Amino acid sequence: MAALHLAFALALFTGHAAGVNNGLARTPQMGWNNWNALGCDVSESLLLDTSKKLVDSGLRDVGYNYVVLDDCWSRGRDEEGFLEEDLEKFPSGMSAVAEELHRQGLLFGMYSSAGEMTCARYAGSLDWEENDAKSFAGWGVDYLKYDNCYHMGRFGTPKLSFDRYKVMWDALNSTGRPILYSLCNWGEDYSHTWGMSIANSWRMSGDIYDSFSRPDDLCSCIDASSPFCIAPGTHCSVLNIINKVAPYVDRGQPGGWNDLDMLEVGNGGMTDEEYKAHFSLWAALKSPLLMGNDLRSLSAASLTILNNPAVIAISQDPVGHSVYRVRRELNVAKDKYGVGEIQVWSGGLSGGDQVVLLLNAAGEDARISASLEEIFLHDGPEGSAPQINEEWEVFDLWGNRMDNALAQKILDADEKDVEKLWKQANWYNSTEISYKEGLKKRDERLMGKKVGKINAGGSLTAKVKRHSVEMFRLRSVGHGGKRKVHAKEEL
Ligand SMILES: *[C@@H]1O[C@H](CO)[C@@H](O)[C@H](O)[C@H]1NC(C)=O
Ligand SMILES: *[C@@H]1O[C@H](CO)[C@@H](O)[C@H](O)[C@H]1NC(C)=O
Repeated sequence: MAALHLAFALALFTGHAAGVNNGLARTPQMGWNNWNALGCDVSESLLLDTSKKLVDSGLRDVGYNYVVLDDCWSRGRDEEGFLEEDLEKFPSGMSAVAEELHRQGLLFGMYSSAGEMTCARYAGSLDWEENDAKSFAGWGVDYLKYDNCYHMGRFGTPKLSFDRYKVMWDALNSTGRPILYSLCNWGEDYSHTWGMSIANSWRMSGDIYDSFSRPDDLCSCIDASSPFCIAPGTHCSVLNIINKVAPYVDRGQPGGWNDLDMLEVGNGGMTDEEYKAHFSLWAALKSPLLMGNDLRSLSAASLTILNNPAVIAISQDPVGHSVYRVRRELNVAKDKYGVGEIQVWSGGLSGGDQVVLLLNAAGEDARISASLEEIFLHDGPEGSAPQINEEWEVFDLWGNRMDNALAQKILDADEKDVEKLWKQANWYNSTEISYKEGLKKRDERLMGKKVGKINAGGSLTAKVKRHSVEMFRLRSVGHGGKRKVHAKEEL
């Protein structure tokens, strides 16, 4: 059984290595995008104020390095058919913006649509791909979010959508500039089955909105593979999106990821516990982590969610495995929308560690318990996984969440004082030491807070508040020497 499992894993590995080849997104990309908080209200000063905030708050150095400008930036095409930036919004021009971001150690992302128009009805890139890829490369762009509006009916089969999106992938490639390609077709035409061949990430759902569990008619699809899912829409809750991606979590691999859409942390519609759960799930499911808030008014509470290095280390683990859902209980205690679910998610990390999420998406606090047999289901069903016979140390990944008062001081500090505060906060600096290196050295900031042990054959139990998550790293004591960590996975 174990040998078969390994053979299968290796076959998958080789298959996907042949897919994307631009060297980018070896771990899920991190950064910021203006859309969720600001929509079309974009400008050069927004991007530069935001980039300054990314640097001054320390967020760049925990890994958020892409600044992505969404829709509404152009004023149409010039006589030669090249897109022109709106010089009222971007008076110095896009090249100057890119240069300034690069000077700050950041990368620059832009947006277009594989349609005749973008979603906000600006000029789209369909049938103009070569020109537009040249413009992006010429401006010094490092990332393209490529949307799906006004596609002229060129969708409805996987092949139609694949072909339409491949044109831009090829055009970007022929510029010679490595540009992260973020495919945004909302999961239409089963993008989770072909996205990995031509993109560094692919959206698998309609747009997120700032609610944890509220069902909405505009997000009519609950199953991305249903033939009736023809309007992925908008207003998709956190719970809707994770339930949709659950059957496809294994499609992400180093180089290409399921994109669960931008984060809502800090936008005001969810409680602190809900935002913690949202962020934890996005990290563990290997979604890109693009903050979608207005960083100019970042709160201390939001900062201490977004900067948690123990959770980010799950997202940036070099093995690149998403967690799987190993249990879903429905109709527990219903919340005000009639939703009441308990879920357990579990996945393998580098060095043979395991991450476990106990999710309470019900209307009341709950005690949730998961046995080692359940936790290691994907290493062998029905109790056949060797890990069940090992002893495990348990680390709470939210146990060392930064104190709000210190976070507020960091946000208020001026440039000359902030370094002292970073030191005091023991800030994880991934610019100096990558997550891969930090994990190899078992940097304590990435491990979380040790809270207990699980004996061989035992289980993990925690009290979980309503609409919240508890998230743990499990580390085998002594590793038993019985189990080999797959060498191939240590990339
Ligand atoms: C992280 O390291 C870089 C490079 O040494 C440095 O410029 C930056 O100020 C550091 N940031 C933090 C948050 O410590
Ligand atoms: C273009 O594609 C080739 C192989 O298909 C790859 O080796 C190369 O790195 C790509 N270049 C860029 C800039 O994406």
